[in-house]
Amino acid sequence: MELFEKIGGLPATLLFLFFIFSSGVSPSIGGDILTPAQPLTDGQELISAGERFILGFFSPIKTNNRYIGIWYKVSPPTVVWVANRQHPISDHNGSLSITANGTLIIINQNSKIIWSSGSSGLANPVAQLLDDGNFIVKEANILGSLTWQSFDYPSDTLLPGMKLGWNLTSGLNRNITSWTSPSDPASGLYTGAMDLHGNPQLILWEGSSQLWRTGSWNGKTLTGIPDILHYKIFLLEFVINNDEVFCMYHTTNTSLIARLTVNYTGICQRSVWLDDSKMWISYLSEPKDPCDYMSQCGVYGVCNMDDSPMCSCLKGFKPRSPTNWDLRDWRDGCMRMTELDCRNGTDGFVTMKNIKLPDTSRSTVDRSMELNECRAMCLRNCSCTAYASADINGTGCIIWTTELIDIRVFSFGGQDLNVRLAAIDLGLGLHHSHSRTMVGILVGSVLGILLFASVGICIWIHRRRRTGAVPFASHRNNECEEGKEWELPSFDLGTIIAATNNFSIENKLGQGGFGPVYKGKLGEEQEIAIKRLSKTSAQGTDEFMNEMTLIAKLQHRNLIRLLGCCTQREERTLVYEYMPNKSLDTFLFDKDKAVLLDWQTRYNIIEGIAQGLLYLHRDSRLRIIHRDLKASNILLDKDMNPKISDFGLARIFREDETALNTRRVVGTYGYMSPEYAMDGVFSVKSDVFSFGVLVLEIISGKKNRGVSISEYKGNLLAHAWSLWMEGNGLELVDESISNSISMVEAINCIKLGLLCVQESPKDRPTMSSVVLMLGNRNTSLPDPKRPGFFPTRARPEVESSKSKTDSASINEFSITTVEGR
Ligand SMILES: *[C@@H]1O[C@H](CO)[C@@H](O)[C@H](O)[C@H]1NC(C)=O
Ligand SMILES: *[C@@H]1O[C@H](CO)[C@@H](O)[C@H](O)[C@H]1NC(C)=O
Ligand SMILES: *[C@@H]1O[C@H](CO)[C@@H](O)[C@H](O)[C@H]1NC(C)=O
Ligand SMILES: *[C@@H]1O[C@H](CO)[C@@H](O)[C@H](O)[C@H]1NC(C)=O
Ligand SMILES: *[C@@H]1O[C@H](CO)[C@@H](O)[C@H](O)[C@H]1NC(C)=O
Ligand SMILES: *[C@@H]1O[C@H](CO)[C@@H](O)[C@H](O)[C@H]1NC(C)=O
Ligand SMILES: *[C@@H]1O[C@H](CO)[C@@H](O)[C@H](O)[C@H]1NC(C)=O
Ligand SMILES: *[C@@H]1O[C@H](CO)[C@@H](O)[C@H](O)[C@H]1NC(C)=O
Ligand SMILES: *[C@@H]1O[C@H](CO)[C@@H](O)[C@H](O)[C@H]1NC(C)=O
Repeated sequence: MELFEKIGGLPATLLFLFFIFSSGVSPSIGGDILTPAQPLTDGQELISAGERFILGFFSPIKTNNRYIGIWYKVSPPTVVWVANRQHPISDHNGSLSITANGTLIIINQNSKIIWSSGSSGLANPVAQLLDDGNFIVKEANILGSLTWQSFDYPSDTLLPGMKLGWNLTSGLNRNITSWTSPSDPASGLYTGAMDLHGNPQLILWEGSSQLWRTGSWNGKTLTGIPDILHYKIFLLEFVINNDEVFCMYHTTNTSLIARLTVNYTGICQRSVWLDDSKMWISYLSEPKDPCDYMSQCGVYGVCNMDDSPMCSCLKGFKPRSPTNWDLRDWRDGCMRMTELDCRNGTDGFVTMKNIKLPDTSRSTVDRSMELNECRAMCLRNCSCTAYASADINGTGCIIWTTELIDIRVFSFGGQDLNVRLAAIDLGLGLHHSHSRTMVGILVGSVLGILLFASVGICIWIHRRRRTGAVPFASHRNNECEEGKEWELPSFDLGTIIAATNNFSIENKLGQGGFGPVYKGKLGEEQEIAIKRLSKTSAQGTDEFMNEMTLIAKLQHRNLIRLLGCCTQREERTLVYEYMPNKSLDTFLFDKDKAVLLDWQTRYNIIEGIAQGLLYLHRDSRLRIIHRDLKASNILLDKDMNPKISDFGLARIFREDETALNTRRVVGTYGYMSPEYAMDGVFSVKSDVFSFGVLVLEIISGKKNRGVSISEYKGNLLAHAWSLWMEGNGLELVDESISNSISMVEAINCIKLGLLCVQESPKDRPTMSSVVLMLGNRNTSLPDPKRPGFFPTRARPEVESSKSKTDSASINEFSITTVEGR
């Protein structure tokens, strides 16, 4: 549960889900049954017995094309199956009928058959829409006479009870393929399918290349998704027998509305509909980090998100091309330090723990063998490179007799992998294996090292890169597909100059902490934002480097994405994805624009920020305290999804550190926790405090001025607290959204906000609790204690570091907050 993620953003979701349904819907033609006597015409519907699903005509957004589909009866309706996905009907004159011999056909305005289900040869056929979303053809009144079912021909969605995989007898291969775009259900680029080679596993294809694999089934879970076990609401089933190989899931509570989709952006998501908030909550999105992508580290390479760099060689192996490897080009992978010595029988095995097993399409499986036999068999076969048990309970045997690819290490879950090594390599220390020491050094040392490394990478990539660099985020482009770059690409100065029209004043978006921010365009399409370090700003250099080194390593949809940097000649610029909706404060604190942020959007923003912060605090490779969370540092993309930005003041902390102390108090007046402002002590809980302030600001549309308690009205926390204590919490809610509000959610959010701003850091929840609280609307939250008001009289350092953001909030990238550091 803790890891659950929300779908990208509400507006995006709405956009996607909000199909324009036929106007003037006429009544359904007879419940859930279609008979040869009466075709289904545009405007008519079949409704499943329990009213969960509807079958009828629909148009996706931004098109008038008509399709016959099945959708969940939720609002907005969510299409789960499309019959004529490749063959739209251009007007409202199409119809669906069942022929006298039991073939479903769709006829267009010219009476031409544009889709058919294949013939069935029934005597008295009917088609029926079942309450699990299956549309079946059968003999009327005869049970078990099914001859065709929509479940055998999935679109982009797998519903509970649907099989993803093969009927080996008939050769039927059921897979899910994304739509081309939100307005076109035709088969898109991404397909999730069962691969039968070796030990079966599910593979996400992008065209003809493999993007991600789930790993094989180990009796309990898919080895590539260990966290699946946390989601108790889903039961996963994986069947391998002589007739069938398929994967299927059920929900533990059958009344849950759930789906698994492969989205046109190439993400697999399992989501559940929350009826009270009218949205889909995503429980798992894959692939989720760079290590998930196929063979990131080459042959015999191991990917570990906790390490930096993320790729290392298996123990007993060394990089094949040391120079490239050091430069983080991992494509060539690794090779043995010492060749195996099969004949003398001196080889042995090193056991690696918490592993996503190497690609099993190149493996041989014997499900009955015991592990010691497995080991013996591997030793006997000179081409055997590794073995593992097929079942997590220790039975069964998987043997690899080829090079090992696509191995990753998890921090929990995964399996043991036994890699065969020559005797001499068995005794080796942690030489080239994935080493924690590296992390230690990185995290433990001052940012200097990071900074140095990162500049190096930048320069290096710059040298070997063609112009018009590709954002590192586009892992699907060729270079990254080959497993090369998750580090920061460098942009050519010429490209930057061209993109910003030579830093022209027209392109200037605003003034940031360490220099101006410009809007730019890469080629025709891609809009970017460019932050330029002023040549004169000496102190900005630190923030620039800090930002560059930190964000380059972070990957989350709720964090601003750094596309690259440019450090050529005197110029130092950072290139970001462009955020057309600027920052949250430009909406929140503007009377006219505040109405655009309805309750759902605000809730979505709160959740997004929480997810982003959780990632920083806990889930990213580095553990990071942002230290300057505030409305102007929350940027909004075109769908109003929040992205945390500005890492100029962020700090890495080690796992064993709970709080750090600093002499220099930086941050923004009004968002700073009392212990930090007064004593310079900061911890994740200071970010939680700032988050709490943000939540209350988002709900109220008012700014927390951070003034003294005596100036009662200006202090949002004081105001919120007193309303809460009087039992009038809802009065806090911004008037401009009073019509879209969900009272239960609003009350919970206010309470949550107040919990986060409690005076004592210990009382404040961690971000993972916050995310849980936001996700589970039924948990009753504890009662908040009094907030930590901003101190009446701050220490001198704080006074001098008072923010000057307000005037600059028009910035695309709001400024860092501190003057005198
Ligand atoms: C596809 O998935 C991504 C990642 O979860 C999400 O941001 C995006 O909104 C999704 N698109 C649609 C149309 O659901
Ligand atoms: C489609 O139906 C409309 C009325 O709904 C009619 O005006 C039009 O002529 C029809 N088109 C064809 C090709 O039959
Ligand atoms: C069923 O009917 C359709 C159209 O009427 C025809 O094309 C098909 O051959 C028939 N199939 C069988 C098995 O009779
Ligand atoms: C697999 O296909 C065969 C041949 O069409 C069919 O007889 C069998 O029932 C199918 N198996 C399952 C489990 O659906
Ligand atoms: C998906 O299924 C279709 C239809 O069975 C098949 O033609 C296609 O090859 C499958 N794709 C993959 C990647 O298995
Ligand atoms: C281990 O799991 C396999 C398959 O799930 C099962 O057949 C076998 O009986 C289990 N063995 C033990 C010892 O539990
Ligand atoms: C199942 O879910 C429904 C609706 O979400 C809920 O009302 C019901 O209490 C749940 N049942 C169980 C056993 O959890
Ligand atoms: C077997 O081991 C011996 C001594 O370690 C070595 O000299 C010999 O080359 C090895 N044989 C093979 C076939 O590798
Ligand atoms: C080693 O195992 C592979 C896969 O099981 C098999 O194809 C090969 O014939 C075996 N080689 C020897 C020498 O036994």
